[in-house]
Amino acid sequence: MEKGHMIYEGKAKRVYEVIHSPETVIVEYKDDATAFNGAKHASLEGKGVLNLAISTIIFEWLKQAGIASHYIRTLSDREMLVRRVEIVPLEVVVRNRVAGSLAKRLGIAEGVTLTEPFVEWYYKNDDLGDPLVTEAHIRVLGVATPEILASLETQAQKINQVLRTNLHKAGIELVDAKFEFGLTQDGTLILADEISPDTCRFWDTSTEEKLDKDRFRRDLGGVMEAYQEILRRIKGVQA
Ligand code: C5P
Repeated sequence: MEKGHMIYEGKAKRVYEVIHSPETVIVEYKDDATAFNGAKHASLEGKGVLNLAISTIIFEWLKQAGIASHYIRTLSDREMLVRRVEIVPLEVVVRNRVAGSLAKRLGIAEGVTLTEPFVEWYYKNDDLGDPLVTEAHIRVLGVATPEILASLETQAQKINQVLRTNLHKAGIELVDAKFEFGLTQDGTLILADEISPDTCRFWDTSTEEKLDKDRFRRDLGGVMEAYQEILRRIKGVQA
């Protein structure tokens, strides 16, 4: 397999075409850490390697649970071979407990458990700072049909359940998670992007210690140690 030109560079990843394989791309995980829509930026040595290893385990769990994703296989410590998709410009956030922007928006203390996990939509647009949007807004924007939204919600809830169950075995509580989805050439909607401490809130089940990107956002220190701890704990989990 031959790596071709870079076709996209985002905050945390680069995407390359694969020569003679138009339906796949190679995703390279970078060490860059950003928060607050890029306003806070740092390079954390080895973060890309950890996030790729963590994402690989999680995509494997999902595969075993029969959930389709862009993941094909991991090629090296920073590179993943994935199916090429057109990303739906929505961040699909599932919440199990109150934290982060939900705590701020509703004035509810972080950590309150929600009776049912629910889904929120954020419009992926850097210039606008990825705003929370309603289904009516999504219709106005024309970025997803009601059928696609229904499918996104069902898939996000299923993924959340699989993740919660497996993470629980590792002593990790899934507080919330952000998923991205894409359409394949034949129009199938599948999970894309990454699933890692950059995109989820992971708390230690007994101490509620934060083991995710909030350590970077809130200057709590020990960012890489927390990511390493997540990898160490989920490595042995049998899905
Ligand atoms: O900040 P907020 O509470 O809305 O984040 C909800 C979840 O979505 C968190 O797990 C956070 O890490 C993730 N997220 C993300 N990328 C963003 C915004 C939030 O991965 N641009």
